[in-house]
Amino acid sequence: MTTPTSPEWWRSAVIYQIYPRSFADANGDGLGDLPGITSRLESLSELGVDAIWLSPFMTSPQKDAGYDVADYCDVDPIFGTLDDFDTMTAQAHANNIRVIVDLVPNHSSDAHSWFQAALAAGPGSAERAHYMFRDGNGENGELPPNNWQSVFGGPAWTRTTNPDGTAGQWYLHLFDSSQPDFDWTNDEVRAMFRDVLRFWLDRGVDGFRVDVAHGMIKADGLPDYTPPAEGGSMGGTTPLGLEPGIDDFEDIDGGAPYWGQEGVHDIYRDWHRLLEEYEGDRVLCAEAWVDPLSKMAKWVRPDEMQQAFNFPYLETPWQASALRAVIDESLEAFSAVGAPSTWVLSNHDVVRHASRLALTAENPQGHGIGPKSPGQPIREVGLQRARAASALMLALPGGAYIYQGEELGLPEVIDLPDDARQDPTWFRTNGERYGRDGCRVPIPWEANAPAYGFNTTGAAWLPQPDDWAPYARDAQVGVDGSTLELYSSALRKRREHGLGLGSIEWIDGLGDDVIAFTNGAVSVIANAGSTDVQLPDSLAGAELILSSGAFDGSTLGADTTVWLRTA
Ligand code: NOJ
Repeated sequence: MTTPTSPEWWRSAVIYQIYPRSFADANGDGLGDLPGITSRLESLSELGVDAIWLSPFMTSPQKDAGYDVADYCDVDPIFGTLDDFDTMTAQAHANNIRVIVDLVPNHSSDAHSWFQAALAAGPGSAERAHYMFRDGNGENGELPPNNWQSVFGGPAWTRTTNPDGTAGQWYLHLFDSSQPDFDWTNDEVRAMFRDVLRFWLDRGVDGFRVDVAHGMIKADGLPDYTPPAEGGSMGGTTPLGLEPGIDDFEDIDGGAPYWGQEGVHDIYRDWHRLLEEYEGDRVLCAEAWVDPLSKMAKWVRPDEMQQAFNFPYLETPWQASALRAVIDESLEAFSAVGAPSTWVLSNHDVVRHASRLALTAENPQGHGIGPKSPGQPIREVGLQRARAASALMLALPGGAYIYQGEELGLPEVIDLPDDARQDPTWFRTNGERYGRDGCRVPIPWEANAPAYGFNTTGAAWLPQPDDWAPYARDAQVGVDGSTLELYSSALRKRREHGLGLGSIEWIDGLGDDVIAFTNGAVSVIANAGSTDVQLPDSLAGAELILSSGAFDGSTLGADTTVWLRTA
């Protein structure tokens, strides 16, 4: 199997996240699958993406939508087979699209054979040493080994039951109780994951997105820890900043004995060397919710990973000075270690940015929004801002991540019925947090087809809203001004003008609500305010390359971004 070659392609790549259960469903059971992805690759090629990243499709009981893996080297039958994966990869490569798969090394599913063996083998066994089993505190071990809380809510420890029915040891799970944490100080765990990496590299994948890449090593002695603020869904503790300014991003995870421990970096150095054995420039991308960016940059030092998701950027409000500050901070932090920055606005864990950017009340990351959430977004405002924010993001130098459906302008689904919700966060908080289902609803392809063309049967694992026809791909393709056309034209022009590379120089003096820069011959101007901005003569009348909204050549409307040729 061949991999497209081009040195360090990832430095400026646009990578499209596929959430397999919600992308395209070839067998009509209501859950997306690998043949579905293959059948829709052409549309991604037309969109102009460089790579796809697939959220997990490996064997899993699906307690956390596949982030609970029971067999790292096989495809779950609900998604297809290994042959389907090979076909999809070959087809993607034939379309010049690279393939990145999700690797979940912090924890497995409790259905993984190693965990089942550990339960059976009992305390002190080599099998238990693959995971974090500990005796409980208290007279009869009835108290958890420490006070750590699960990211999804509730305690991070669950007590086991011995084969004779008596209460046994406890095991650690930073996420759901069905996701026991591996013990990464154990060489057998390291060896197992090396084999997993090789398994997928041998099948031709171009890289891995590494789940919870800041969590695999825990501080010696597992000391008690109380986080300073409310924990987000992904282990971040930063609330979605609606307040301007990024000074609030202190090193809030610095003290957590389970996030960002120095030892994780040895693992990535090892993986870096392993990837280097393969031809074709393979990559590792860290899902590491650590602040500040100077700390996150450690994950992408020259001998570690290639990319890290820029979550501080994602969490920045639609506000000019805050955006400029986080862009400066990102470029400085990543370039200090020779890595490109990445940019991302949406993924399967956060409220879609077409809704998030119009929220008027604070919404901690991972909590999601539902019918009773305060500060409900106005849909038109959200879409206008999302288009402007995406046009800004796609003009920035570095790698960019797009989450399926954002190219259609999809909003968060706020009014999912309670009994449809499936996120463990919803269950573990007794419905106090809505969780992440609202951004995971199957995407619309055809305005007038069952399930909007997600499949041919009309089934959908999460119900699709009745008013999604205008968002469908076929309602937008070739339609001037549609969000889909905005994205495909942004991707084409980004490549044409080399915007993914190069460097930016700020343009000052356009007012507090404007963020503007030049990269080579192109000037990018975003008005994040609510009133028109008059462009100065030096910019007015310049050739328009791209516009996220109405623009008459000199007056830049509220929530609008334009790209102009100025040299
Ligand atoms: C981060 C993933 O993106 C999220 O969906 C998952 O629930 C957690 N890690 C746990 O694996």
